[in-house]
Amino acid sequence: MDMQRIPAREGNHNLQNYEDVRKNFSWDNVKRNFSWDKTGKVNIAYEALDRHAENPDKKDKVALIYSAPDREENITFNELSKRSNQFANVLKKYNVKKGDRIFLFLPRSPEFYAAFFGILKIGAIAGPLFEAFMEQAVRDRLQDSEAKILITTPDLLGRVPQEDLPDLEKIILVGEHQETGDQYIDYTKEMENASSEFSIEWVDLEDGMLIHYTSGSTGKPKGVYHVHNAMIQQYQTGEWVLDLKQDDVYWCTADPGWVTGTSYGIFAPWLHGVTNVIRGGRFTPDDWYKTLQDKEVSVWYTAPTALRMLVSNGDDLVKQYDLSSLRHIMSVGEPLNPEVVTWGLKAFNLRIHDTWWMTETGAQLIVNLPSEEIRPGSMGKPIPGIEATIVDNEGNEIPPNQMGNLAIKAGWPAMMRAVWNNPSKYESYFINGWYVSGDSAYRDEDGYFWFQGRLDDVINTSGERVGPFEVESKLIEHPAVAEAGVIGKPHPERGEIIKAFITLNTGYVESPELLEDIRQFVKTGLSAHAAPRELEVRDSIPKTRSGKIMRRLLKSWELGLPTGDTSTLEE
Ligand code: WTA
Repeated sequence: MDMQRIPAREGNHNLQNYEDVRKNFSWDNVKRNFSWDKTGKVNIAYEALDRHAENPDKKDKVALIYSAPDREENITFNELSKRSNQFANVLKKYNVKKGDRIFLFLPRSPEFYAAFFGILKIGAIAGPLFEAFMEQAVRDRLQDSEAKILITTPDLLGRVPQEDLPDLEKIILVGEHQETGDQYIDYTKEMENASSEFSIEWVDLEDGMLIHYTSGSTGKPKGVYHVHNAMIQQYQTGEWVLDLKQDDVYWCTADPGWVTGTSYGIFAPWLHGVTNVIRGGRFTPDDWYKTLQDKEVSVWYTAPTALRMLVSNGDDLVKQYDLSSLRHIMSVGEPLNPEVVTWGLKAFNLRIHDTWWMTETGAQLIVNLPSEEIRPGSMGKPIPGIEATIVDNEGNEIPPNQMGNLAIKAGWPAMMRAVWNNPSKYESYFINGWYVSGDSAYRDEDGYFWFQGRLDDVINTSGERVGPFEVESKLIEHPAVAEAGVIGKPHPERGEIIKAFITLNTGYVESPELLEDIRQFVKTGLSAHAAPRELEVRDSIPKTRSGKIMRRLLKSWELGLPTGDTSTLEE
């Protein structure tokens, strides 16, 4: 299926000559765009907010267009800078120090963004949690990071297992509440009394700023640790890939609980001082088109799952909206189907630019650039400053057009600097100086990369990464479930859905009610997006002799594929 190639867009893009720039590029030169290049003092919050707030031409520019079904608010750079100063002062009062882990468990809201920057300004490390997480997911992350303070709402508080969190000193509650214990701090009251002046904590480029938990195929979620230095690449990709210009209105649909929602929902646009739309609430096609129209969005960063849902809602719907402000669209998180790219050309009269990267990489690495031809189905080429290749299992490069492990030459600016509390896991990502992604791909003769799938058992459902181990662990906590094996099953809209195979404990009989109860158990205990959509009861779950669940075999059975090597299968 050789789809037609889509020529470069006309017009004056920020990166016009890929090959030339690539030849001469050095990340060191990007530093000139930051104030710390002269002062030697750094804080990403200063570069993203305060610098604009101090600039007479920028201070009253709208930084954040917040829009939710029940709330609309425009916030300038100056105002957001002040609010985050206030929040930093609140943290200071409660003895927060550089390097402390301060977690946010909040819906997308103006309070989230003020708190997030307050954390960075005091030199602490922010840990944003996706608001759909339930108790187990919250417990694992707060325990592992030894979080000192949590910012949440009274509604979400019930999912915070305080008795299991000895390091958690305080909980800051956003919204009206009845809690009286002295571990609780009232956000509104404290903010009212806090000064809007704060002297920012200057830190080192290699000091920590952010932890995002993400799933691998084994074990609990891992705390991927990022440092202030990431701003170099977030800024540069904001220029080249997001193609940001000063009068743009930018909208990234990702939640800040995931890396796209911080690197590109917060840092890239604000490092450039560009107006950023944050839409609260849930996805519906009408709502999204309306947001694009009413907020006059010009640059839009979204995900294949959402685009596929728009496609399935048909061309009549998109025609009801005036999307004439839109000039640039990007996608991330899962393979972007060529059919969706073709539809985008028709529906928006625009190309959809695929971008590939991961929580661990901190910023975009392989992309479709506005000035380059798009080959639908390909993620594009590495940005200047990034060396990408395909390696075999020993970390040796392999020739074009052969599938292998997608790898990046280690040492790019936004690369994670650690896996929290887990140095051996961190080490395991690197072979021969390459960061090995775990994605299988090949590279064609012209240097375009083509994604093929995951090499491990990590599931990608609606663009969200789910570790099967986490789901299996939750499933077997249910009294009826003896064993569980969890796989990703291909699905036309969601990419993959989660399918669980289980065996039942004696005394339990399969029934639709029981299966629904088990599903709900995962949904309310772990998170909605991690709950299996399909559950199948079996007599046994295939395991290796050492007791590891053979998910690969489950998947082959499910898909009717050859089962391959089963020599390690237990009797
Ligand atoms: C997948 C999201 C195909 C991939 C920023 C990767 C993609 C994982 C693409 C990281 C893409 C991301 N095409 N697959 N353009 N972008 N992926 O950590 O498997 O949530 O390893 O980071 O998503 O997901 P994560």
